[in-house]
Amino acid sequence: MLIDSYDRVVDYLRVSVTERCNFRCTYCMPEKPFSWVPKENLLTFEELFEFMKVAIDEGVKKIRITGGEPLLREGLDKFIRMIYDYAPSVDLAMTTNAFLLKGTAQKLKDAGLKRINVSIDTLIPKVAQDIAAKDVLKNVLEGVEEALKVGLKVKVNMVPMKTVNAQEIVSVLEYCKERNMSIRFIEYMENKFAAKEIVGMKSPELLSILSEHYEFSDDGFDGTSPSHYFTMKDGYRFGIIEPYEDDFCKKCNRIRLTAEGNLIPCLYFDEALSIRDSIKAGDIKGAALVLKEVVRTKPEKNRWGGEDGEVSSRAFYETGG
Ligand code: 5AD
Ligand code: SF4
Repeated sequence: MLIDSYDRVVDYLRVSVTERCNFRCTYCMPEKPFSWVPKENLLTFEELFEFMKVAIDEGVKKIRITGGEPLLREGLDKFIRMIYDYAPSVDLAMTTNAFLLKGTAQKLKDAGLKRINVSIDTLIPKVAQDIAAKDVLKNVLEGVEEALKVGLKVKVNMVPMKTVNAQEIVSVLEYCKERNMSIRFIEYMENKFAAKEIVGMKSPELLSILSEHYEFSDDGFDGTSPSHYFTMKDGYRFGIIEPYEDDFCKKCNRIRLTAEGNLIPCLYFDEALSIRDSIKAGDIKGAALVLKEVVRTKPEKNRWGGEDGEVSSRAFYETGG
């Protein structure tokens, strides 16, 4: 079992298979062109898998494939199958923008994928285009329908932003509710790659809007999910992710691996150790040592909302959020 210095059990590994993305969401990526990590720096699926076996053997029980946009990497279903075949009981999920799901959902499900998280920030094509810098909505919604059809469990993320999609909080929730998909509103997290003009919305404001339409009870936190949950009278549950809250990190059980092999103990901080050399050399013991060291040095808390105006310099598109 992997236990950090604050007695948190680390059993959740998020693996970013590429930082590349076919969207340029304003809250995630810079507007101006920028250069990607060269493809040859990426670990191969086989190499990533070598590390994942180590992590599973050390106690990881939940794995999420992220990006960038993971579906941009060819052969992702084969990668998912490798993980599934090695450890069928691992909770295997993926975060995707859903743009490419229509043609791939069935293959992914057959390979052993169980759940996906997708972002739906709006149901208005023009707003979607403004957020992602591309006309994406039709493909995204078709991708979501396809995923539901093939039997993947779908959770939706929405990042509410003033003057952008604030007026759609209820309509996006209703869209999800009708399809029995849970929704989580993610408080916008400042980071140095996001558009400067974004004004996020915090939990009290979201709850006040929702309470004009619904009655719900506060369930607090649930297991190791970072989400604060609420249940409506009819039983539908929604969540709010509040990274600025003091106790947000108390139950954090996750570490992150980037496509280049950097193992990151906390989304907020720059610190990371690389498993690249050990994996490339076939040094499994070495990789396990790096893993244990990263778990040992996992910080107690992120610093969102912490020191004066300080923002994270970690790119979400590199770590998959
Ligand atoms: N703040 C909050 N959420 C973000 N995401 C990406 N960037 C940010 C940010 N700056 C979320 C997206 C997506 C998930 C991978 O991360 O909504 O659903
Ligand atoms: Fe948008 Fe996700 Fe791509 Fe970032 S990685 S630009 S949040 S789709």
